[in-house]
Amino acid sequence: MNSVRLPAALGLLAGELLAQSGMSVEDRVTALLSRMTLDEKIGQMSQSTSIRTPLSEQFKAEIRAGRWGSFLNAGSVTDRAEAQRIAMKESRLGIPLLFARDVIHGYKTIFPIPLGQAASWNPELIEEAARQAAREATAEGIRWTFAPMLDIARDPRWGRVAESLGEDPFLAGTLGAAMVRGFQGRSLADPDSLAACAKHFAGYGAAEAGRDYNSVWLPEILLREVYFPPFHAARLAGVASFMTAFNALNGVPATGNRFLLRDILRGEWNYDGVVVSDYEAVPEMVRHGYARDDRDAATKALTAGVDMEMVSTSYVDRLKQLVESGSIGMNLIDAAVRNILRLKFRLGLFDQTIAPREVSPGPASLAIAERAAMESAVLLKNEGELLPLSGSVRTVAVIGPLADSRLDQVGTWSMDAVADAVQTPLAALRNRMGTGRVLYAPGLRNSRDRTTDGFPAAVEAARRADIVLLFLGEEQILSGEARSRAFLDLPGAQAALVDAIHQAGKPMVAVLMAGRPLTFHDVAAQARAVLYAWHPGAMGGPAISKLLFGDAAPSGRLPITFPRTVGQVPIYYSELRTGRPASEKELGIPLGNPEQPAGYTSKYIDVDFTPEYPFGFGLTYSRFEYSPVRLSAPVLRAAQPITASAEIVNRGARDGVETVQLYFHHVAASVAQPVRKLAGFQRVLLKPGESRRVSFQISSDDLAFYDQSRRRVTEPGRVQVWIAPDAARGSMAEFTVQSVTEPVE
Ligand code: NOJ
Repeated sequence: MNSVRLPAALGLLAGELLAQSGMSVEDRVTALLSRMTLDEKIGQMSQSTSIRTPLSEQFKAEIRAGRWGSFLNAGSVTDRAEAQRIAMKESRLGIPLLFARDVIHGYKTIFPIPLGQAASWNPELIEEAARQAAREATAEGIRWTFAPMLDIARDPRWGRVAESLGEDPFLAGTLGAAMVRGFQGRSLADPDSLAACAKHFAGYGAAEAGRDYNSVWLPEILLREVYFPPFHAARLAGVASFMTAFNALNGVPATGNRFLLRDILRGEWNYDGVVVSDYEAVPEMVRHGYARDDRDAATKALTAGVDMEMVSTSYVDRLKQLVESGSIGMNLIDAAVRNILRLKFRLGLFDQTIAPREVSPGPASLAIAERAAMESAVLLKNEGELLPLSGSVRTVAVIGPLADSRLDQVGTWSMDAVADAVQTPLAALRNRMGTGRVLYAPGLRNSRDRTTDGFPAAVEAARRADIVLLFLGEEQILSGEARSRAFLDLPGAQAALVDAIHQAGKPMVAVLMAGRPLTFHDVAAQARAVLYAWHPGAMGGPAISKLLFGDAAPSGRLPITFPRTVGQVPIYYSELRTGRPASEKELGIPLGNPEQPAGYTSKYIDVDFTPEYPFGFGLTYSRFEYSPVRLSAPVLRAAQPITASAEIVNRGARDGVETVQLYFHHVAASVAQPVRKLAGFQRVLLKPGESRRVSFQISSDDLAFYDQSRRRVTEPGRVQVWIAPDAARGSMAEFTVQSVTEPVE
């Protein structure tokens, strides 16, 4: 770094005088940019993790010299405050630093993992949780988070499925936009606004074989129909930044991918926020076999449109020389710095003096966490209405490795969790029932434990109890980044533990806590009730206890299809039909002539072709009935939406929330369309006996898709529509679309 050091007073000039001048953000960016040296510009384009406590003299000198524009996941509250003071008061131009952190599903208060939150199908709740996370993180001086992760995830082997909002573009887009609104608040300039980041652009969730970081091959139509829409929804919600993906997409690493970053993001979507690389993803292009060396990687990343490099130093090390030798134009550097400064101005960083303070979870944030955990849980089975447990249950046996593990129940990305604020199911049940009525015998030390020496005590506890509550699943460390699994079964000896407990003959409720869809067919067969709680966050314990005892009723719905076995993966509801679709009659394992196992249809001969639990599925403590679908007109003409509606009635004895889902299908189209596509949903609370007509408007734009020339069109033809409790059921009606062929933007 050899920029000339000017007196600190001039630093104030740039920051503070510009702030007072009433200039527009764009003019302020231009004015500041015109005064920056090349070194200072490259500094803004570099994000580091290197804050160490206490701040070293060398580090302070680097900040004074403007070597870094941003830091991630580093430093204490005091370190950040001091580093910011140096940047703003002692660097030549007084440009503030931007502190980033992975605030993924809560900061100090941990909410359910994103996949769990997605099971709430409740955008308002998700927005509220993100808002709370933003309040906590910004109080500690963090103004940028790397969330939401908007990668469509259709492969539960992929550990990052936990961080996703599930398999469906409409659902993930709706919920992702809510998260963006929650993080960013009313205005980015508010001091409690946290800049969000739409990641990982794009295709990361389609890693081959579910192995993290693996290559991705996706045809453009699939990108446009499935993988881009959640990102586009975030863009429309005003997301402040995008992060590139680690993977190569169709042979070109996302971090050097002009099609993604220039053509789609900056071009079609007219995006003016920041694009940051993922962690060291710039030099990783050398390992991908796409760049010769870090010089080439820096060139490719910048030309593709990466404004800021995360952690690695190809930009700091190479860009100056590349510009001076004429290999890279100054215009590229300026455009990148412009995007970064624009965000810093929009965040009001130049105009505020932050006084960060430490925060911890309070009653208000814990209340949101409890509600989020309650609404995330999905009731998968409830034989004989075992749940909610009646007041006559005197004694429960609490068994299983997840019953009392604070760390595991908060799930992946919980580095800032306040452990003392985490309440486990065991603690909550003891609190509720009194310690004497809760017989605790975990049976296994952790979810991967294969030893059986804890079994006898667990069986004994089951014998003595009226009812058995099993807390099974996956430890925290088994899902998240780089945690792909080739088996989806309950790890360790958990299935054997359940077999042993089953022998005690007591009714069993299985509560599963995991970061992905697991396969647990036999356990579900043995248990009378199954509640899927994901990794439910800090208040998982009280939330589960309230659901089990009926203080609240489950309302969660699966945001992702659950396979019967890993061999069915990837499995998702929105598939194409094939020329030889199997029918419901072809379920089960056919016996008889091995040459002719069954018809020549698309299925398996050793397991049903259907999922274990379909997308959108979830039971409640009520029973809802749907009337046939009614359409306002038999024909949809351009500019004249039609309304599809159904009467929903609560036939149960308790209040219940039903998540009513709208799906459609084009019977014949110039590009074959999925058997069903989610196009809307509404959560309705109905009292016993109450009924409500739930209506959805369908416009020609809702029916548009990409044709073979990649134009978004609404074609004439027959459309089937379902109003349904999940992707596998519901009543269907049909209407016709009359020639609406013009492209829809
Ligand atoms: C790598 C992950 O892929 C990304 O999601 C995360 O935000 C960064 N590391 C920063 O921790």
